[in-house]
Amino acid sequence: MNATSTAAKTSKNSARNSTFGEILEWKSNRTGLEGRSKRSIFKITVYQDGIIRVQASRMENFEPNPYSVVSSPEQTAFKLEESQEKLILKTNLLKLEIDLASFRLSFYDQSGKLLNQDDSLGISWIGTEVSNYKEVQLNEKFLGLGEKTGNLNRFGKAYTNWNTDYFAYGVGDDPLYMSIPFFLGVHDQGAYGIFFDNTHKTVFNFGASTNRFIYYSAEDGDMDYYFIHQPSMAEIISAYTWLTGRMQMPPKWALGFQQCRYSYYPESEVYAVAQGFRDKKMPADVIYLDIHHMEAYKVFTFDGEKFPNPKAMIARLKEKGFKVVVIMDPGIKTQKGYRPYEEGLENGLFVNYPDGKTYEAQVWPGWCAFPDFTKAETRTWWAEEMAFYTEAGVDGFWTDMNEPASWGQFTPNLIEFDYEGEGASHRKARNIYGMQMARSAQEGSAFQNPEKRPFVLTRSGFAGIQRYAAAWTGDNVASEEHMLAGIRLVNSLGLSGVSFAGYDVGGFAGEASKSLFARWMSIGAFAPFYRAHSMINTNDSEPWAFGEEVEEISRNYMKLRYKLLPTIYSKFYSSSITGLPISASLAVAYSQDEMIYQSAYQNEYLFCDAFLVAPVESHKEITKVYLPQGKWYYLYSDQKHQGNKVIYQDCPLNYLPIYVKGGQVFTMQSDITHTEENTDGILSIHVYQGETGSEFIHYEDAGEGLNYLEGDFHQRKIHYKPEQQLLILEEATGSRKSDFHTIRLFLHSFESDSIEVNGEKEALQTRNYAFLERLTEFDPLPEHNHPYFEITNLRILELPYTSEEIVITSLI
Ligand code: NOJ
Repeated sequence: MNATSTAAKTSKNSARNSTFGEILEWKSNRTGLEGRSKRSIFKITVYQDGIIRVQASRMENFEPNPYSVVSSPEQTAFKLEESQEKLILKTNLLKLEIDLASFRLSFYDQSGKLLNQDDSLGISWIGTEVSNYKEVQLNEKFLGLGEKTGNLNRFGKAYTNWNTDYFAYGVGDDPLYMSIPFFLGVHDQGAYGIFFDNTHKTVFNFGASTNRFIYYSAEDGDMDYYFIHQPSMAEIISAYTWLTGRMQMPPKWALGFQQCRYSYYPESEVYAVAQGFRDKKMPADVIYLDIHHMEAYKVFTFDGEKFPNPKAMIARLKEKGFKVVVIMDPGIKTQKGYRPYEEGLENGLFVNYPDGKTYEAQVWPGWCAFPDFTKAETRTWWAEEMAFYTEAGVDGFWTDMNEPASWGQFTPNLIEFDYEGEGASHRKARNIYGMQMARSAQEGSAFQNPEKRPFVLTRSGFAGIQRYAAAWTGDNVASEEHMLAGIRLVNSLGLSGVSFAGYDVGGFAGEASKSLFARWMSIGAFAPFYRAHSMINTNDSEPWAFGEEVEEISRNYMKLRYKLLPTIYSKFYSSSITGLPISASLAVAYSQDEMIYQSAYQNEYLFCDAFLVAPVESHKEITKVYLPQGKWYYLYSDQKHQGNKVIYQDCPLNYLPIYVKGGQVFTMQSDITHTEENTDGILSIHVYQGETGSEFIHYEDAGEGLNYLEGDFHQRKIHYKPEQQLLILEEATGSRKSDFHTIRLFLHSFESDSIEVNGEKEALQTRNYAFLERLTEFDPLPEHNHPYFEITNLRILELPYTSEEIVITSLI
């Protein structure tokens, strides 16, 4: 490469683009290589066979990124070769070619298929703004990026990461509350993921206003990204969560139904709502205290008039089987004599202007100071303050307004944050602020109640937020399109490592129609986080507030949720180990199937691997559903469909279209009103005949506490192997006895009248079975009747639950 052609690509004018330029020197090191061009240093680090980190910086040293990545490079063998033009780095899964003249990078899989390649502009700068331009491969789709509206396939759109308080956002609006700069590319040659670890405002342009490339840019900081490749989408997501961490096992009660309102007060209303669930026989576990629990919206206070004795109130709610979650906003009222304010000031815990004056902005309490959650000392202080709530018996914490939000919604960029001692302006710190508040809340919960599992729900976050909190999608709107958009948001969060996510069922802003609320309650039962919430000054929105029909539909799906808890809890456990989504876009299992990206089918998802949920607007009576390859069973009747085709499905309001995948296994329990109530001790195991089998991990533990980490669990694999007509319940592991004494086996679409259990022939019973109860016919006219489905002549066998291996053969 001669010097003049390099110079042509170089610009001293910071208003123009300048590229990385020729590599002038490089050397290998233990984990990869490093070197420099005229204007940038670079480093390539092998983390695993399938993960390579790329750093480029115009500073003398690379900037540390203390927040998202929690794993270090593993000892991974790689080979490095040099030719005249290229450096080639090979691992067992990847080949990276680095063009010496331009630092243009090309990633190939181990068979030589091109996965991803820089455009010739590669890594470039305009002033402090750094970008990486990438070519688009044939038929390439772009997915993920966390909490982003829009289509499953993000091609043709650009997105900004800048955490924003966005009341009643439109279903195409951007940016929202949380930023996760991780996306997946999938094309004919394979799939990969790219995590751009930079907390500045970033932009991801997947081909908006250009047909030349896609790119990602940051306003400032380093180009610092992780290229991830694995043979499947699932493994790529799992690798991304190996890097950024996985959800900790939540308390079981957090998987139950949660009721929120802005706000329930005074305490008599809180009791009335909680009692409402028990009277109406609707299962529920959690009730929320939104901002009206406080005196003048001051965090770490209770309003003495509305809540004269919070401890007694919470104790009484607990007797009814309710947990209480309180909201915590970051803004601290700047009021003399208000202890948290004075302490924060005294100890330098707030965000300041560069001249040391406290930064103030207005939120609910009026003028506020903002704790600097990017400072360890502040997080510890906040965690200690949380004793105020835990001593009153509060169980969970809801970190809201933590973008951070303030009236005016335009924070001056010069304010200063600690950023783990490194120091950073708002430009670098904003996107990480909410996650650090959630972290502090989690640490506070663990510090105050070391024997309990923390539950934190957060609005704002960044890559890695799954380690600290569940996420919900903020201030949605009571509309059909929002209901569907919320599903895409949650599924996109799932693609981006955040398994525990949900939306405000019923819509936060506006009024839900009866049908919308009913449909939303049924879809929400198949979301990882299941909470109804609505805004101040809207109509009552509890599941009984919309009339008898909606009440019965809601009850049916709430009960179904609780009956499915053995499956849901088991999948939460698996997700805490693998990082895989619980609500999974079909792109996880069927990324190469073009149909799943079509707008008519992009909202479909697999819940807990077994259930294909095809969400549909509440006013529709019939809908088209795409079923991917394999056999599928309509949940309510076992009607069988051969996949790889579009079917027409009736979708009356009382039946949400759901299909079970042939070959899958899931478990159920009896009806309970809250998660701490005992079941009847019967574990139902549903097996669906199919061509390909599956492995289901059944997991039980105390549902609370940390003893499960010391072996206090009961876990076993259940394999269904259709080619051998075999179902095996492996011997259970863990020191815990199962909560179940009986297994009830439901054999869907099997034909034989008997099976063998551990070599003994057992006759099967047959019986009709319904997943949902029949609705009361409130209107006597036959045309108003609700349809009712049951599965006829389902083959069933009961056997004692034992921890030893159970082998079931002749499953025909
Ligand atoms: C904004 C949150 O998004 C919403 O859920 C909450 O009810 C209000 N803040 C009031 O705290």
